[in-house]
Amino acid sequence: MDKIVMKGGAELHGEVVVSGAKNAALPILASALLADGTSTFRNVPDLADVATMLKVLRTMGCDAERLTARKKDVCEVGVNGAITPEAPYDLVKTMRASVLVLGPLVARFGRARVSMPGGCAIGARPIDQHLKGLKALGADIHLTEGYVEARAKQLKGGTVNFDVITVTGTENVLMAAVLAKGRTVMENCAREPEIEELARVLNKMGARIEGAGTSIITVEGVEGLTPVDHAILPDRIEAGTLLVAAAISGGNVLVKHAVPEHLDAVIDKLREAGCTLTAEAGGLRCKAPRTLHSVNITTTEHPGFPTDMQAQLMALMCVSHGTSVISENIFENRFMHVPELHRLGADITVQGHTAVVKGVKTLSGAPVMATDLRASASLILAGLRAEGRTDVSRVYHLDRGYERLERKLRALGADIKRVTAKA
Ligand code: EPZ
Repeated sequence: MDKIVMKGGAELHGEVVVSGAKNAALPILASALLADGTSTFRNVPDLADVATMLKVLRTMGCDAERLTARKKDVCEVGVNGAITPEAPYDLVKTMRASVLVLGPLVARFGRARVSMPGGCAIGARPIDQHLKGLKALGADIHLTEGYVEARAKQLKGGTVNFDVITVTGTENVLMAAVLAKGRTVMENCAREPEIEELARVLNKMGARIEGAGTSIITVEGVEGLTPVDHAILPDRIEAGTLLVAAAISGGNVLVKHAVPEHLDAVIDKLREAGCTLTAEAGGLRCKAPRTLHSVNITTTEHPGFPTDMQAQLMALMCVSHGTSVISENIFENRFMHVPELHRLGADITVQGHTAVVKGVKTLSGAPVMATDLRASASLILAGLRAEGRTDVSRVYHLDRGYERLERKLRALGADIKRVTAKA
């Protein structure tokens, strides 16, 4: 099992390129199911979660693969022969986003059998809103033996009002509505850039979607869709993580391909803390003094401060001057990184969904353990600043959402490497 070994203290300098967005690639790969033929996706990040989605699609009978031979960031998904519309528990339990095949399958093939995702380290994460939306389009839904069984001869347009704002829920229902008969109006939708990107791809396939990126999305159903060739947008959470790496090291880094409009809330907080953020040369530069001020963070849905950046900002607040109050409002159990940051000497008190972080002068390196994807990023960021050696184990969490992060940080001057621990 791999671990990351690092020594803190280096200031990061230089340029780094952001990979394609994980949370756009996953629904977009699933959307290929909606059309006969082969779709080509470019700028697809080389991540464990992407590999799992390709496996889910292959299990159903698609030719889904990464074109390693020719271009490493290109994936092709061929939907040519008979498709078995089923996503098995063994795969769904490893990546809950596999549930994103549900909408496309029931819309395109009239039935789907998809394992319920089950719980997750950061929260219960039910899919009741996904099912509510599909029922509103006329799908017949049953839960048997841990599977969602969905059936519909033909989905019909309707009104979907989400009780809670859900990213993959909006995406799943959107992918179903494009082939439903008539018009669908989706209300209280998530507004993340990844949803706008999915709608962009679906419209390129021949769908008729308006309002993606706002809380009301309107879809005119169409008879059929055609395959697409599309380059996935840059990953705003990876970009945000790299900006925080520059900030925590007191460095000066240009994060290439970062899209400032997708990171407004993160940019605001880094500026409030004392960093200089400038859009330049198709990216975003972060220049930071050695010591920053503490700021308060409240996670909300986009365009508010993203929950996927909470852990990374907490690491920064651990070494900033003052006290920071961090409120996590999206997931009920997303402070698993706190006890590990304590091991590095951080001063954090958690009460319910609020953490109070008192900035300390120095952190000291120690062995720590990743518990989930963004928690692993926060431990690496803290390790960049901690005196001495930090070992981060269970980095399979990191590999789910970051493409060779340690190499990117090393290229910016960090003393960091991956070692494969002997079993
Ligand atoms: C997406 O998860 C992202 N994953 C998550 O990123 C991200 O943290 C999250 O959105 C919020 O921004 C992908 O896009 C693959 P939600 P998702 O449905 O869609 C509740 C990362 O680090 N809810 O928007 O699963 C839910 O429990 C990952 O890259 C219901 O109650 O999140 C949560 O409290 C982690 N019923 C809230 O809504 C439902 O049917 C928001 O969850 C659905 C959700």
